[in-house]
Amino acid sequence: MSKLDNRLRSLKIKRGEKMRKPIIAGNWKMHNTLFESGEMLKELLPLVNKSSVEVIICPNYTSLTEIFKLLKGSNIKLGAQNMHYEEKGAYTGEVSPVFLKEIGVDYIILGHSERRKIFGEIDVIINKKIKAALKHNLSPILCVGETLEEREKDITYEIIKKQIEYCLEGLKDTNLDKLVVAYEPVWAIGTGKTATKEDANDVISFIRRLLSEYINKKMADKTRILYGGSVKPNNIKELMEMGEIDGALVGGASLKANDFAKIINY
Ligand code: 13P
Repeated sequence: MSKLDNRLRSLKIKRGEKMRKPIIAGNWKMHNTLFESGEMLKELLPLVNKSSVEVIICPNYTSLTEIFKLLKGSNIKLGAQNMHYEEKGAYTGEVSPVFLKEIGVDYIILGHSERRKIFGEIDVIINKKIKAALKHNLSPILCVGETLEEREKDITYEIIKKQIEYCLEGLKDTNLDKLVVAYEPVWAIGTGKTATKEDANDVISFIRRLLSEYINKKMADKTRILYGGSVKPNNIKELMEMGEIDGALVGGASLKANDFAKIINY
C-alpha cells in the first residue's frame, strides 16, 4: 500500500467507513419451504431497500428459481449453499455450477462446516468446487473455521492455515476478484456463542495475511472476509466496527425478516 493509500485507509477507519463494501449474507440452510420463503421476502424487502451493504440470501435449491423472480428489481443477490464441481454427468443428486448460473445464482457457499462434518467434504473437493465456481463466474463464499476441540488445543491458526492453503491450492494465477471468505468457528454456529470481536478480527487478519502470501497482497486487500457464528441484531454492530471484518454470514437470525433486516441495517 502506498503512503496515500495508508492515509486514506486511516481516515476511513476514523470515520467508521469500510475499506471494502460489506456483505451481509443469509444462509437459510435446510429451512423455509417455497411458501415460507416468499412470505419472509415480502416482509424483508421493504425493510432493506435502502441498505448500503451487499445483501445475499442463500435459500435451498427448490426455492432458487422462484426467489430469483421475487428478488428482481431489489438490491438482494441470490446464492446457493453447495454445488458439484463437474458441469454435468452421472452424479445422482448433485447440482452443477452451469445449472445454478442459468437460473440467476451469483454466490455459492462452499466448504461450510456442516458439509465438512455431516457430509464428509474435504479440502481437496472444496478446492475443485472453488475452481469450478470461478470458471462459471460464480462468487465462492469459502467457509473456514476451527472446531471447539481444535480451539481448546490451541491450534486454531494451524487449522485455518491448512484450510486456506488446501482450498486455494493451484489458484495463484487465477483471477480471484470474486472470492469471498467466511471465518466461521464451528463452536459458534447455532450455539449462541460468538467469538469475541477481537478474536474474530485477529483470525480474519491472519486469513488476509495468508491470502497475501499465497496469492498476492493486492488481492488480499480487496477480498471480503466475513464472520459467521451466532451473529444477531445485538452483536452485529460491534463486529462490524472491527477493521478486518467485512460482513457476516448469518444462519438462524437470517430466517426472521425483522432480525435479518436489523443485521443488514446495523
Ligand atoms: P448461525 O448464525 O445460526 O450460528 O449459523 C451460522 C452459519 O452457519 C452461517 O453459515
